[in-house]
Amino acid sequence: MKILAIYGSPRREGNTSLLLKEAVKGAQKAGAEVEEIVLRDLNISPCLEIYGCKQTGRCVIKDDFQRIHDALLTCRGLMLASPIFFYTVSAHTKIFMDRCQSLWVKKYWIDKAGFGTRRDRKGLFISVGATTGKKLFEGALLSIRYFFDALDMELWRALTCRGLDLAGDVLKYPEFLDEAHRAGEELCAAIEGMD
Ligand SMILES: Cc1cc2nc3c(=O)[nH]c(=O)nc-3n(C[C@H](O)[C@H](O)[C@H](O)COP(=O)(O)O)c2cc1C
Repeated sequence: MKILAIYGSPRREGNTSLLLKEAVKGAQKAGAEVEEIVLRDLNISPCLEIYGCKQTGRCVIKDDFQRIHDALLTCRGLMLASPIFFYTVSAHTKIFMDRCQSLWVKKYWIDKAGFGTRRDRKGLFISVGATTGKKLFEGALLSIRYFFDALDMELWRALTCRGLDLAGDVLKYPEFLDEAHRAGEELCAAIEGMD
């Protein structure tokens, strides 16, 4: 089973990265083949809204997004991690999400069919914010729900942690790291359960 793990924080050893690393370990323990992608290491342009993708369903901008495109179509699970920046996802994450408009175009305008069924492709979203307000994750979760839907994926679970600010703050909360590890394992079990 192929799972894609996408790190959306500009901080390499930041809180969401540490959580996603645990989820990756959990998924690997459950037998998944995990491909890890660190967005900050890639050269990905924002969507230019030129709709070159209308021809083939593939984005025409020649950059590192092309490396992710096929994996997005074939993976059974996606684990995406982003910090909260101004009540939504980070810029790295949003730029990546916007480039997936080409997949939306493929699905709705070209193939007029999905890539799988929403039930057999599942997504895990991991997020962290510094403050503790009730609405902290609302903006990000709204975007993420529609994003996963465009990829024909169910937002299976969101793991959200409040009150973490400095890089490595999450290490003070082993319960969050355990939860991420379990989420990785359980995501695989949930996908296998659909077979
Ligand atoms: C540009 C920027 C915007 C931020 N906006 C918010 C915010 O709206 N709400 C919040 O609680 N924390 C905010 N934070 C704090 C981060 O969410 C927090 O430091 C988090 O732990 C970073 O996760 P990371 O280590 O995975 O990058 C912001 C941080 C930055 C750098």
